[in-house]
This record gives sequence, C-alpha cells and structure tokens, in this order.
Amino acid sequence: MARVFSGIKPSGEVHVGNYLGAVRRWVAQQDDGECIYCVVDLHAMTVPHEPAALRAETRRLAALLLAAGIDPDRSILFVQSHVPVVTELTWVLNCVATVGELRRMTQFKEKGRGQASVSAGLFDYPVLMAADILAYDTDEVPVGEDQIQHVELTRDLALRFNRRFGDTLVVPRATVPPVAARVKDLQHPTRKMSKSEESPQGTVLVLDPPEVIRRKVRAAVTDSETEIRHDPEAKPGVSNLLELYTVATGATIAEATEAFAGRGYGALKAAVADALVDLLAPVQARYAALRDDPERLDDLLAHGAAKAEAIASATMQRVRDAVGLLPRR
Ligand code: AMP
Ligand code: TRP
Repeated sequence: MARVFSGIKPSGEVHVGNYLGAVRRWVAQQDDGECIYCVVDLHAMTVPHEPAALRAETRRLAALLLAAGIDPDRSILFVQSHVPVVTELTWVLNCVATVGELRRMTQFKEKGRGQASVSAGLFDYPVLMAADILAYDTDEVPVGEDQIQHVELTRDLALRFNRRFGDTLVVPRATVPPVAARVKDLQHPTRKMSKSEESPQGTVLVLDPPEVIRRKVRAAVTDSETEIRHDPEAKPGVSNLLELYTVATGATIAEATEAFAGRGYGALKAAVADALVDLLAPVQARYAALRDDPERLDDLLAHGAAKAEAIASATMQRVRDAVGLLPRR
C-alpha cells in the first residue's frame, strides 16, 4: 500500500471549502493507503502569530480532523512539533537546497510581496515541508494546486540527496484531485471561499451552528433572473449554490438542476442550507465530544506522535549515516 502524507496549517478557521476540498479527501484516502496526517504548527509560525492562538488552533484543528473521520486506529494523526526530528532533517536538507531554487517558489514570492520584512522561516518553509514528506518515506502527497511546486522541490531534493549520498530517501509524488471542487465565496461567487476574516458572511465554517449556516446561505448573492441553471460565467452565484448542493448531497448537476426547475432561488437556498447542516451535523457532534474531553484528544495526539516518531527517527538515522555525521556512542 502506498504511504500517503499530508499537512494542514492551524491558522484560521476551517471552512466548507477546506472541508470539501481537502479534509474529506483525506478521510476517503484512508481506504486506499497508509495515511499520515499532520497539523503543521511549525509552518504556522512563518508569519507573525499569537502564541495562545497557535496553541488553541492546533488543538481545534486536530479535534476537527478526528471529528471529520480521520481514524487514529488506521491512520497516524499528529502535531508536527511533537516530532522534533523533522527539524533536524530540515537542517540537512537546507544544506542540499539552494537559495536560488527557494527564491523561485511562488508562494514565497506572493507572501513576501509588499512586506517590509519577511522571516527566514518563510523563506525556508518549503524545506520544512520537504522534511515532513521525506521523514515519513512518503509515496503520495495529496495537495491543492498551490502546493504542487513545493512537492516538486521535495522530489528534486530527494533525488539530489540520493545522487550525492547514496540511495536514502523515498522520492514522493504529488497527487492532485481530478476535479478539485472549488467552493466559492457566497458573497463574492467569482472568488474561492477562503479565510473568514476577508468575508465573514460569504464563508461557511465547519463549526458554524445550523442557524448561522442557514443565515449565510439565505444571504448568498445570486442574480436578478429567476432561472436555476448551471452557468458559472453568467450566473456565478446560482452555479456555486448548485455545486455546493451536489458536493454536499452526491447528486449530479443535472439531477439538481432538474429537481429545482421552476422553483425559486429561495427553494434552492433552503435545500443547500439543509444539505450543509446535514453534512456538518455529525462532524460538529463528534467535535463537541472531543472538545469536552481534552485528555482524550491529547492522548490520541500523543499516540499519533509516537507512531510518527518511530518512522521519522529511522529515516533520520539513515540520513545521519549517509551524510557522515559521527554516531554518538
Ligand atoms: P488553505 O486554507 O488555503 O491553506 O487551504 C487548505 C486546503 O483546503 C488546501 O488543500 C486547499 O486546496 C483547500 N481549499 C481551500 N479553499 C478551498 C475552496 N474554496 N474550495 C476547495 N478547496 C479549498
Ligand atoms: N504547505 C502546506 C499548505 O500550506 C501544508 C504542509 C506542510 C504540507 N507540510 C506538508 C502539505 C507536507 C503536504 C505535505 O497547505
């Protein structure tokens, strides 16, 4: 079975776009591979952050992933900083990576643009990510489009390392979903749903209570016609509602269009809201149970970290030998 590894940053709240586009895939992937999922708190530090918020969001995200269906008996779920050997591997890989190739990373260029100063951590972000992937002998890395370049860099570093020091690291590949569901903002349906600070009313959070979900969907921007049809160019708002309906219920666009033919936008919105409430209710219930039992959450994470550490330590031992670090007696 292929070893799968992916990471998600504990920064900001998890919205329906993250859930449908990433988290739900992670859950499904557990049937096809040996999965390792990581809450990447060290990556969240590469931009200015608040210590208390980082701690709270790390917990919250881990609980949410478990609530969404990451099964700690079948998969490994852990917090990145709980396995510090990955930072040691980052150092070694830093000595393999070049400043030139890191400077070419699009995400670095975008996040750094217009900033008076940028942390060295932000520059080194892709190497820490490469260490994550390589520490766990990963075959497949499920990621969104924006992270493909980082996985390509990881491949280059692994190949270069192996050429220089002998066959040591597993060379991974990125897997991108065939039809990435791009959930759009309910208020600005031509742009993708993203962090809620930018558009609180347009972003449905996984932990929004049912009445908040209903209110946000009811207020969704549509258009001045009445016809319900899927036409993202001419009718982005209605099309997004139809798409949300299909990804939440499993119906096809054709089925949904037919079901709502001749009914108004109000009916479509009510159905989308119901579908989202139904989709998220079990996740929210399991989340509440974990939030009320922090001991259990911490136990599960400690268990995940122990399993992850066993794999990463073995890799690091091979790396130490390969690069010629003197073994400690
Ligand atoms: P981000 O919150 O942008 O760091 O994204 C975390 C994960 O959620 C990535 O795998 C993204 O591809 C996915 N994601 C973020 N926003 C959306 C969206 N609006 N629709 C679908 N997937 C998304
Ligand atoms: N950089 C990724 C993102 O922003 C998160 C991440 C960190 C990751 N380490 C990883 C993803 C390893 C895949 C594999 O989404």
